[in-house]
Amino acid sequence: MKTIQLNQGIGIPQLGLGVFQTRDGEETANAVRWALEAEYRHIDTARIYGNEAGVGQGIRASGVPREEIFLTTKLWNEDIRRGRAREAFAESLAALGTDYVDLYLIHWPVQGFEQAWNHMEELHKAGKIRAIGVSNFHSHHLDSLEKTARIQPAVNQIESHPYFNNQELIDECHRRGIAVQVWSPLGGTGGTLLKDPLLQELAQKYGRTPAQIVLRWDIQRNVIVLPKSTHRDRIFSNRDMFDFELSGEDMERIRGLQRNRRVGPDPDHFNF
Ligand SMILES: NC(=O)c1ccc[n+]([C@@H]2O[C@H](COP(=O)([O-])OP(=O)(O)OC[C@H]3O[C@@H](n4cnc5c(N)ncnc54)[C@H](OP(=O)(O)O)[C@@H]3O)[C@@H](O)[C@H]2O)c1
Repeated sequence: MKTIQLNQGIGIPQLGLGVFQTRDGEETANAVRWALEAEYRHIDTARIYGNEAGVGQGIRASGVPREEIFLTTKLWNEDIRRGRAREAFAESLAALGTDYVDLYLIHWPVQGFEQAWNHMEELHKAGKIRAIGVSNFHSHHLDSLEKTARIQPAVNQIESHPYFNNQELIDECHRRGIAVQVWSPLGGTGGTLLKDPLLQELAQKYGRTPAQIVLRWDIQRNVIVLPKSTHRDRIFSNRDMFDFELSGEDMERIRGLQRNRRVGPDPDHFNF
């Protein structure tokens, strides 16, 4: 599994399993176990997903040693607003059944994120978090954070897929030395991206699935991808995109699908 080096000194596998909207308990535990069986070594959850316990269960059931797995969770908005980063982090660890996480993210840029970041810096220093980062941050949020932060974010996890490629923000993060994780890479649950005629055509051309075409496009853009699935066959097939390459021309054609259509809210306008 290919890894990307983070500015906080550790590597992150470029493919991770996303578990947004995966039900806690058996559904999550199975997805995580299958992903680890398929040699994923990176799982992306969040406190608000309500399935950290299932993630922990899946990891333990897999038999894969904890230290071989890159585990991410996220600090939820209400906990940031209420200044309870340390408590929420402890709750996440207890639910996951682990004593550290590899990556802890500010989930959305809500009021109080600068103070939450300082608490995350302390937890990082104490060895409870191997890398700290943000999610859904525009450049101006990164600018605000920079004023009080001692540690620069290792990653920014943002929406990006061919219908909303968010390429300017990705390039800006890369210029700042911040790695980018892309969410809803397949166009999100209930989306129509994978039915796009161009992706269907390229799937035919390369003898791959539309999902593999999109994920490969991301790998070649040097971003970290977090496809979600609860199906064993899809979890396995989504992994199989490290052994072929899209031509420069096809990379550009996929980029040409841009239509500024978000799946989620703009981080400057959301109400949760
Ligand atoms: N930081 C944030 O604010 C944020 C926001 C959203 C998401 N995320 C993270 O990013 C991850 C991915 O985003 P997402 O869950 O929104 O959407 P996604 O990964 O783009 O798409 C998931 C959808 O695609 C389907 N799917 C998966 N593999 C497929 C395949 N090979 N062929 C056809 N369909 C396939 C899944 O169905 P099945 O499950 O039925 O297979 C599901 O309906 C999340 O799970 C989460 O970890 C983060």
